[in-house]
Amino acid sequence: MLPQQRLELAVAIAREAGERIVEARQSRTFNQQLKKGHELVTDVDVAVDTLISDRLEASLPGEPRLSEELAPDREVTHTAEALWVIDPIDGTVNFAHGLHHVAVSIAWVSEGKTRLGVVHAPFLGETYTALYGQGAWCNDKPIHASRTTRLERCLVGTGFPYRRDSRPPLMRRLMAVLEHCQDVRRNGSAALDLCDVACGRLDAYYESVSPWDFAAGLLIAREAGARAGHLYPCPSGIPEDLYGENLLVSAPEIHAELGELLRAADANELRLS
Ligand code: IPD
Ligand code: CA
Ligand code: CA
Repeated sequence: MLPQQRLELAVAIAREAGERIVEARQSRTFNQQLKKGHELVTDVDVAVDTLISDRLEASLPGEPRLSEELAPDREVTHTAEALWVIDPIDGTVNFAHGLHHVAVSIAWVSEGKTRLGVVHAPFLGETYTALYGQGAWCNDKPIHASRTTRLERCLVGTGFPYRRDSRPPLMRRLMAVLEHCQDVRRNGSAALDLCDVACGRLDAYYESVSPWDFAAGLLIAREAGARAGHLYPCPSGIPEDLYGENLLVSAPEIHAELGELLRAADANELRLS
């Protein structure tokens, strides 16, 4: 199947998944649990992952899938083969609290490169798409990243891991960004943060996340003209498009300066007032 047809399939599946999410919110009958002791998961996360996997299997039988709830442990190093990368609900905490920043994220990777991505936000009525080398769109209209050149005018998105003991080192980064940029947003969906970078609402996004959180959104941001990279070198053997540690995605002109600021914060080299 051609990438364009794959994208159309992924969009149709993401929209069906979005309808299921909206219905579940309206009926308010879902159960909530903690996985690994600290990560919220609802029945709806699992049901939507099952729906997406069933639909992909029906159209493209046997194609490998990495998905947060059903198949999170697949080796991402085996991506000479094709791989679907799925987050059924990005923004589970928002979903459970009745907030609107919730998305279905589906990407398809082959030979280590993300070829297509869809991020569908059912409560916002926004469907973001991208095809490798061909551009990015929101509701079928082309989108473009910010061209800002001044760090002090940057609105920066980020997020924090569920593990509480991983959070304190990130406070230095947060302080640095609050001091040198316009402000910070923590909207609770990495996929939508990346789409907000893609359409210039945010000037930058940084975080460490899992492949399903960012695979589709990163392609959308890059195809919209954002610069995407990592604060530190990536380990060999893992495709960079699936390596989620220390991501920095931003308006191209401020990428280097913001990267330096975040690394200096990590090294505790900044004097903050
Ligand atoms: C989370 C969201 C959040 C990010 C977390 C992710 P989930 O995904 O993307 O914005 O800060 O790191 O785990 O759990 O809602 O799918
Ligand atoms: Ca997620
Ligand atoms: Ca999720």
